[in-house]
Amino acid sequence: MIDLSTSIAGVKLKNPTILSSGILGTSPELIKRAFENNAGAATIKSIGPKLRDGNNNPSVINFGHGLLNAVGLPGPGYKNMDVEFNELSKIKDPVIWSIYGSKIEDFVNITKYIIKYKPKIIELNISCPNKENGMLFSQDKKSAANVTRSVKEVAEKTIIIPKLSPNVANISEIAYACEKAGADAINAINTVQGMVINIDAKKPVLYYKKGGMSGPAIRPIAVRCVYDIYENVKIPIIGTGGITNGRDAIEMIQAGASAVGIGSAVYYHGINVFGNIVNEIKEWMQENSYNSIKEIIGIAHE
Ligand SMILES: Cc1cc2nc3c(=O)[nH]c(=O)nc-3n(C[C@H](O)[C@H](O)[C@H](O)COP(=O)(O)O)c2cc1C
Repeated sequence: MIDLSTSIAGVKLKNPTILSSGILGTSPELIKRAFENNAGAATIKSIGPKLRDGNNNPSVINFGHGLLNAVGLPGPGYKNMDVEFNELSKIKDPVIWSIYGSKIEDFVNITKYIIKYKPKIIELNISCPNKENGMLFSQDKKSAANVTRSVKEVAEKTIIIPKLSPNVANISEIAYACEKAGADAINAINTVQGMVINIDAKKPVLYYKKGGMSGPAIRPIAVRCVYDIYENVKIPIIGTGGITNGRDAIEMIQAGASAVGIGSAVYYHGINVFGNIVNEIKEWMQENSYNSIKEIIGIAHE
């Protein structure tokens, strides 16, 4: 019997696949569809302090090896989302509530507000590159630790997971600072800063000019980040970036991830991607005589 379950700081997942933030919005119906299609956990789009329109189009392009986006965190703001929060709180499977802010106070206030809905896990998006000050908190270890510590103080029993940016010199140092500040797990990585220029129009393709890269092009960057973080922290890691099939997921788990985030692959392959990845993980485990995901976590370090 192959055991595909895993756990993130005591929260059990039936398998290691997690819908990443920003891919299917905050709609409880879409989050439920991820679970119906075999996701082990699902993350809502990051919710912020107030109404934001997001950036003008084009805001997402496929550049051939991945996506470049500058969606810019559109959303109604946390005080206008009680109907959705109420529905999300009824979902039994593990929903990850992603939040962002431009001040520590924003993260604290949103946490205090949503805590009454008893979220199992809150993810701190301190790493969005497509917004002024978006990456402020993941850029240096003190800021990352301060936001983590401040949220932990008001989070009661909720698991807190800072999501880190690869656009830094030493990501494992930042992960270590978050662990010391009380983080229960780490998610790595958010998108990689990039730009694409239309040479005929002689202009950047995205309206916002710069964006965040995701999809297959960033997988080796994400694997390297997870590998480095695993050597520096004891808390579990969610490995995110460029995973499109079971072999990619196994690679990330071997690098040290306890679970894997899947974002752009949902754009490429639709919601069935979770079931396909889970089947491919199982096949690889069968062929290689592994009975449990836990036996594979971090084995590339041995
Ligand atoms: C269109 C789009 C929107 C995103 N929005 C968010 C977001 O709201 N919050 C967040 O933490 N990450 C966001 N991300 C980043 C993803 O969650 C993920 O970290 C990244 O895309 C790398 O994973 P992937 O290669 O599997 O897509 C977004 C990514 C894309 C492509």
